Amino acid sequence: MAELGQDILEAVAKHEQPVSSLQLAEKLHQDHQKIIGAIKSLQGIPGLIEAEPESRTLWVLTPEGKEIATKGSHEYRVLQMVPAEGQKLDEIKKSFQYGQIGVNKALEQQWIEIDKKATGGPIIRAKKPASDIKDEVREIIQKLEAGDFLGVPDPVKADVKKRKLAQEQILKSLLVSKGPNFATSISKAETDLTVDMLAKNAWKEKRFKEYNFDALGVPPSAGYFHPLLKVRTEFRQIFLEMGFEEMPTNNFVENSFWNFDALFVPQQHPARDVQDTFFVSDPKETIRLPSQRYVDLVKQVHSQGAFNSAGYNYEWDDTETKRNILRTHTTAVSARMLRRLALKGFKPAKYFSIDRVFRNENLDATHLAEFHQIEGVVADYDLSLGHLKGVLSEFFKKLGITQLRFKPAYNPYTEPSMEIFSYHAGLAKWVEVGNSGVFRPEMLLPMGLPENVSVIAWGLSLERPTMIKYGIDNIRDLVGHKVDLQMVQSNPVCILDDRTEKMEDKKK
Ligand code: PHE
Repeated sequence: MAELGQDILEAVAKHEQPVSSLQLAEKLHQDHQKIIGAIKSLQGIPGLIEAEPESRTLWVLTPEGKEIATKGSHEYRVLQMVPAEGQKLDEIKKSFQYGQIGVNKALEQQWIEIDKKATGGPIIRAKKPASDIKDEVREIIQKLEAGDFLGVPDPVKADVKKRKLAQEQILKSLLVSKGPNFATSISKAETDLTVDMLAKNAWKEKRFKEYNFDALGVPPSAGYFHPLLKVRTEFRQIFLEMGFEEMPTNNFVENSFWNFDALFVPQQHPARDVQDTFFVSDPKETIRLPSQRYVDLVKQVHSQGAFNSAGYNYEWDDTETKRNILRTHTTAVSARMLRRLALKGFKPAKYFSIDRVFRNENLDATHLAEFHQIEGVVADYDLSLGHLKGVLSEFFKKLGITQLRFKPAYNPYTEPSMEIFSYHAGLAKWVEVGNSGVFRPEMLLPMGLPENVSVIAWGLSLERPTMIKYGIDNIRDLVGHKVDLQMVQSNPVCILDDRTEKMEDKKK
């Protein structure tokens, strides 16, 4: 390409007059389109050349037209062929490809006549000698081929087109002349402004390559985010927009006190079995429980009842509360944060977390022994179920989910509790999207929170919306050693539905 540009510049340098791209194509033995391309790229260099578009009409003869140009019109050839004494019609018709047309046209012109009654079949006779007649059709075709259109009246041109003897073509080309900064050598455009150029003032003389904003970027070879991380970023953004503060979730190992007891989950609850919970064998027990006063209040609420609650009425086990486990939910973190809030002196707060939890479950296509929970917590004076529904509507609206339904449910630590369902248009049914409730006084009052403070909370998994968003139907394709790294590299950024719409609204 650069070479062709060079050749074009040299050709233009030799001519005083502008040079047509058609001429260049002929001279340089190149395809016209290639010449046009090279001229266009030379135009990118300011002041080098000037190129004026021009267009030319061209008549291209069809094979039939070509035959007329070289051998004469069909009708004239027929007339030439007929001898003075006449000739059989059939023989004339068959004498060349266009014999039949020639006979018809010659009859029209009254150059010939047919004697139908002659013995042995019809006979053609000439009415005039060929030498008396000008073959005008041939002349017209020759003129058109030579580019002499002015000599041919429009109706005749139309007739030529109709007879399919020639086709009109518009040929677009460029007329190239020297620009104010014409040169026969192309200096290579600089792609970077260097310190050296600035220091020596050399940039003034340089030509810089223009930015190509349509160029595709080079894909990075590392640093791809897993879909879970992308969706987590979106959820985090939603919480931050709603004024929530992120909780510190950096402890996968938790003790049973925070994971269960502080949440008023009785020590005999089936969730606390080895079938459901992973217990840590070493160290088996925590050395760090909260203040004895608080632990004692929790123990009292469970075993005897307190704060107007009858409790569960059972024998409290001190070793059970110390047992280390892998946390089964992030509500353990929420409990720690609420206790901290009470100790600091209560102020309304909104917290969220998104992190990993562990359950000793049977593995299948949608369950692993570990997953991520998204949890939101709002603590304020006199909150009601209405507030919970309001916050949930706002939260899910930001995800593009507007149709919500609530179903009464049971959690040891919330009362009332509600499962959250949303209408899934694709599946055409209501699907469970989360769990929620108002934390029980048996949980909040031992912490030392004021009596008129309520805490509403909800939780959902990160995996479920991620699998829906990325169209993954087996959890093993998302998490674990069977994950296709190519999937991680090539999956698109996550923009949750409602947020996509918002971005489009902004564009309008
Ligand atoms: N901890 C619950 C779970 O693991 C979710 C939840 C959080 C429910 C907060 C109510 C309130 O499913």
